[in-house]
Amino acid sequence: MTLALHGGTPVRSAPWPAWPPPLDPAQRALVTEVLESGRWGATQGGSAVTDLTAAFARGSGVPYGVAVGNATLGLFAALRGLGVGRGDEVIVPAYTFVASATAVLLAGATPVIADVDPVDLHLSPEAVEAALTGRTAAIMPVHLAGSPADMDPLNALAARHGLVVVEDAAQAHGATYKDRPIGGLGDAGVYSFQASKAMTAGEGGLIVCRDEAAYEAIWSVCNLGRKQGGQWYGHPTIGWNLRLTEIQAALLLPWLDRLDAEIDRRESFCTAAEHALAAEQLPVSVVPRPPGTTRDSRHLLMLRVHVPVDREFLLAAMAAEGVPLDAGYPPLGTFEALAREGARAEPYPGAEAAAREVVWVRQSMLMDDPRHAVHLAEALAKVLAAMPPRDQA
Ligand SMILES: Cc1ncc(COP(=O)(O)O)c(C=O)c1O
Repeated sequence: MTLALHGGTPVRSAPWPAWPPPLDPAQRALVTEVLESGRWGATQGGSAVTDLTAAFARGSGVPYGVAVGNATLGLFAALRGLGVGRGDEVIVPAYTFVASATAVLLAGATPVIADVDPVDLHLSPEAVEAALTGRTAAIMPVHLAGSPADMDPLNALAARHGLVVVEDAAQAHGATYKDRPIGGLGDAGVYSFQASKAMTAGEGGLIVCRDEAAYEAIWSVCNLGRKQGGQWYGHPTIGWNLRLTEIQAALLLPWLDRLDAEIDRRESFCTAAEHALAAEQLPVSVVPRPPGTTRDSRHLLMLRVHVPVDREFLLAAMAAEGVPLDAGYPPLGTFEALAREGARAEPYPGAEAAAREVVWVRQSMLMDDPRHAVHLAEALAKVLAAMPPRDQA
């Protein structure tokens, strides 16, 4: 079979589902209502931001939430509200989006990169333990690809050393750990509504937390240092305007009614994909979830390729077959800009192997009919069979 890259017929020619999905009637109605009300900002007395925030706090099993402009700012505000700042170190995983680390810098602290578990690719408690110093103030587990980090050992470690835990839940709306919702497992959890996320308003974020004093401090960081119920022009602490708009919240609120069904749909696709990969007997496996995962929100499906391949060729050939995959993250320790800010660049074997061997199937593809998961396996079989030896590619 000739590769599509070399003029052959692609495995798939139909487009994959678009992301975001088309606007649904409930979104259209609520966005229109907000637009017509003129109450577009969160300080004008509308209810969409309040309702969204309450729903996310409830869904995360905690009493408090603060909606923000994006999750990068949300992580910053959570750290700052929880007292993390200048002189402190925050431990972040080596395989994550760069914002997990740059949010730490924004708070004035230093990101300390710890390796991920070589199998499940989430923050490794052993690596965290090894990265502790007298300046460590917080750890930031990331619920990567929609599956929860193994929170119990991380929380136990944090409790032993008096550390704050901020969950980066940017990719994991609706996921559960040991049947408990993520987001509310640490001192604060932060969701993203950026364009690629499971719920999106183009941009947006939301912080949830359990403790009232932490909530008040985080709220104040996001509202120019105001005190709730205090003077409009009274600013007892330092803060910024990090608020989400009512228009964004109106796009997001109705989404909550279909989030579970969308997660189930992605789960069905992932299960079908795993079967299809096994049926083709490919040297490719699904990256397993960390222990304790009871619901993976399936933001991405991460696949590990167990034979040495030329990644550029693999990605180009898969795209030509109509099944585009994503290369995923470079290890955080390879970013010189972070090293210049004091983040140490040590060897991170878990993240480095992931950067060599792991590819991602994007969420939009996972929304397709699960019967089409065979396209993924067929295209991989075709491309891997035609893969030139690494030195000739
Ligand atoms: C793991 C992770 N953390 C943080 C972020 C930052 O979110 P935002 O784009 O909303 O700032 C993202 C995604 O963009 C992410 O995937």
